[in-house]
Amino acid sequence: MFNLILFGPPGSGKGTQSEKLIARYGFKHLSTGDLLRNEFRNGTALGLEAKSLMDQGKLVPDAVVIGMIRTALEQNPDVNGFLFDGFPRTNAQAEALDSLLAEKNTTIRVVLALQVSKSELIKRLLNRGLTSDRTDDVNESVIGSRIEEYERKTAAVADHYKKLDKVVYIPGEGTVEEIFGALSKEIDRRQM
Ligand code: AP5
Ligand code: MG
Repeated sequence: MFNLILFGPPGSGKGTQSEKLIARYGFKHLSTGDLLRNEFRNGTALGLEAKSLMDQGKLVPDAVVIGMIRTALEQNPDVNGFLFDGFPRTNAQAEALDSLLAEKNTTIRVVLALQVSKSELIKRLLNRGLTSDRTDDVNESVIGSRIEEYERKTAAVADHYKKLDKVVYIPGEGTVEEIFGALSKEIDRRQM
């Protein structure tokens, strides 16, 4: 199994690159943001509760997202590998993921971390807010909170995996194809 984490701040291109990576490599894509938005669309209590935090640009509680990931892992016993997008976002989530994968006798092979400047992140998200239905993209203060949550709670997750020598930084500015090329290269050199 080849499991990877696509890591990076809000707007760094995780979703964009995930689509291309799953098409090329057949990973099972697990985006906690997408899973939460689905819960809301289905009108579940979990979705409604998460939505109010998401609209403030705050992280939802660890227990909620860990529970969703546990279920998703159980529901997909026969995949070649998982691509985690937007998860783990705290050290507690990273530790939970490590044990969930250990129960399946597998592990994270690599963490590919997209690096994008703050001004570019804000520009991209405001721009998407003009056309998408992402309610957390429409105002700059919510975008600012998302970036702050990333800096305060999520950036440290890279250190967790750095200790295990699993982090590779990838410049996240440039064309989508250029970045996809750089990500693919890192995956290819690790595939047997
Ligand atoms: P989530 O859905 O994960 O959103 P996010 O991290 O804020 O990131 P985005 O999806 O906005 O950005 P992205 O990196 O995927 O970039 P994208 O490819 O879309 O989380 C949303 C919320 O859910 C969180 O705030 C939190 O409340 C909650 N949540 C989710 N997971 C959680 C967890 N694990 N724990 C707790 N809470 C959690 O690209 C962005 C834009 O840039 C697009 O318009 C795209 O077209 C454009 N773009 C992409 N690449 C390029 C490029 N190379 N050049 C120019 N533009 C580009
Ligand atoms: Mg995304």
